[in-house]
Amino acid sequence: MGEHKRIGILTSGGDCAGLNTIIRAVVNHATAHYDWEVVGIKGATNGLMERPPKVMPLKLHKVDPLRTQGGTILGTTNKGNPFAFPMPDGTLKDRSEEIIEGYHQLNLDALIGIGGDGSLAILRKIAQQGGINLIGIPKTIDNDVGETELAIGFSTAVDIATDALDRLHFTAASHDRVMILEVMGRDAGHIALNAGIAGGAHIILIPEIPYKLEHICRKIRDRQAVGFNFSVVVVSEAVCTENGETLQKNEQFGQFRLGGIGQYLANAITNCTQAETRVTVLGHIQRGGIPSPTDRVLASAFGVGAVELIAAGHSDMMVTWKDRQVTGVPILDAIKTYRKVNIEDTLVKTARGLGICMGDQ
Ligand code: F6P
Repeated sequence: MGEHKRIGILTSGGDCAGLNTIIRAVVNHATAHYDWEVVGIKGATNGLMERPPKVMPLKLHKVDPLRTQGGTILGTTNKGNPFAFPMPDGTLKDRSEEIIEGYHQLNLDALIGIGGDGSLAILRKIAQQGGINLIGIPKTIDNDVGETELAIGFSTAVDIATDALDRLHFTAASHDRVMILEVMGRDAGHIALNAGIAGGAHIILIPEIPYKLEHICRKIRDRQAVGFNFSVVVVSEAVCTENGETLQKNEQFGQFRLGGIGQYLANAITNCTQAETRVTVLGHIQRGGIPSPTDRVLASAFGVGAVELIAAGHSDMMVTWKDRQVTGVPILDAIKTYRKVNIEDTLVKTARGLGICMGDQ
């Protein structure tokens, strides 16, 4: 069984489905198998800045309902870089030492940080600075963390986007419309590509493949010519306008947010095809709700895998999913490559093989 340990766990960055399932798996394995103590840290690193640090004890008999619960019971944040933390007086302060002190005050032997590439990079920097034994677990609906085929939350987001496309088919066909679904994913088109194939989109637009409006409009007209007066388009939020402009929504708290490409395309498509268009922006629906079975399996495997890495004395590692196996890789390797869609990828070829227009031909 080894020596007794006290480990911390936090969720950082945007939420997604499956975070609570990870927490359940970590608590199950750490307490039932190793008899360790697990402490939940609230509000990501913000919880470690508080005095006393804001924590939540995580007990075996309490965590079972977390298997299907969306969001994160620990809370999270995707704003306020601890190295330049916005203070009430408008100044920016480096609060990394407070976080390190908070970690040591809790007498933790290791910290499990669940986050995307941005959060993992910040957590790693703090861990290196403060001698924290950090183990990372990749999560993000964008699925853009390097070194892992899957991150938590992606599968659920694809399910939701696929369901939306399935529904849009009926209303598109009933009204002879072009229905456009704008999905999340930041600079990576994984959600649009996967959901587009599964949900039978006729046109899939992703940031990795530059498009020409003439190709999109030709696809719609070709379908009209053979009697299909409707089309379904899925577009990733970071796709630019034809002349390369990135569209952004209202800015809040100094953060820029992608959005608007769906409506831009709708106007352009109406102009060139005279088709009636409607836009659905799926937004945070993709992050909420019950995790898919795939995300539950992955979250369980990652939770157990992270505890095993700690038990084996590792730190500065992240669990990954490769060839159906959980393995550990240095966090640095995972964060140094941003995992976009490879344009030679099997799924790009699959989409083209199905006759789906990717906008470039
Ligand atoms: O990184 C996850 C993600 O959902 C992106 O797909 C999206 O661009 C962004 O977060 C939205 O962030 P917020 O919750 O701050 O609006």
